[in-house]
Amino acid sequence: MSRPRGVYEDPTAAASIDPDGSADGLHVAIIMDGNGRWAKERGLPRALGHREGVAALRRTVEGAAALGISRLTVFGFSTENWRRPPREVSELMGLLKAYFRSDIDRLERDGVRVRIVGRRTGLDADILDIVERAERRTAANHRFVLQVAFNYGGQADIVDAARAFADQVERGIARPEDLTEGLFESLLSTAPAPAPDLIIRTSGEQRLSNFLLWECAYAELVFQEVYWPDYGPDHLRAALDEFGRRERRYGAVSDVPNAEDNILAAG
Ligand code: FPP
Repeated sequence: MSRPRGVYEDPTAAASIDPDGSADGLHVAIIMDGNGRWAKERGLPRALGHREGVAALRRTVEGAAALGISRLTVFGFSTENWRRPPREVSELMGLLKAYFRSDIDRLERDGVRVRIVGRRTGLDADILDIVERAERRTAANHRFVLQVAFNYGGQADIVDAARAFADQVERGIARPEDLTEGLFESLLSTAPAPAPDLIIRTSGEQRLSNFLLWECAYAELVFQEVYWPDYGPDHLRAALDEFGRRERRYGAVSDVPNAEDNILAAG
């Protein structure tokens, strides 16, 4: 069940259509980790791990809708990934371009809307051109949303939103006291998407690594012991099974009052 974006507005309310057009369903975000280790274990260059990672992404996107997911956000390149060797950075940029070139027709046909989240400044013009064309071509699609976090960092996104609000104050459009959680999150690059219900990280590492820091407030976290290049719909189903066993309370108590509450209420 998807929720409106602002967890602060009404965390338990359900929406049939998200503000930016995806059908009702879960929002799952994935930190696609382990490409390098997958390659190393096979004596292959890291680049091949990333290439297999694209194949895993394709499999996962294709299987996601059938599992009740209507939005998938994947961490394709972080603001920190610029620190990698230039060859690897350029390989990752090349893979993003190749992915959209080769897959855009099918994504469009399959009703997938593509969105890129993160900082657009700093990206080469040819990348921007390809991703923005993909966004335009799929803008009317509603069946499924694929969000690719690219040149994305949770802290950078929060700083950019803070700067945008400060700019509004400076121009006299807003006053500091106008700032609410809802207004702030509308300024994030992920807006107006709902917050993720579930964040998955592959490869066995158990941290968020600057992914969706604001949006993760009430997300369930699932860590899976599989390198990303081996990932596919069966792993996604296993993560959803785990998610289904969790109880989400959004800071409230569960529906069934415990015995002590009953005694207090009666008394
Ligand atoms: C983490 O593995 C993965 C990345 C930094 C990049 C993820 C990219 C892809 C799956 C391919 C391209 C993406 C798109 C959107 C087309 P790692 O290199 O940190 O692995 P390691 O921790 O084992 O070294």
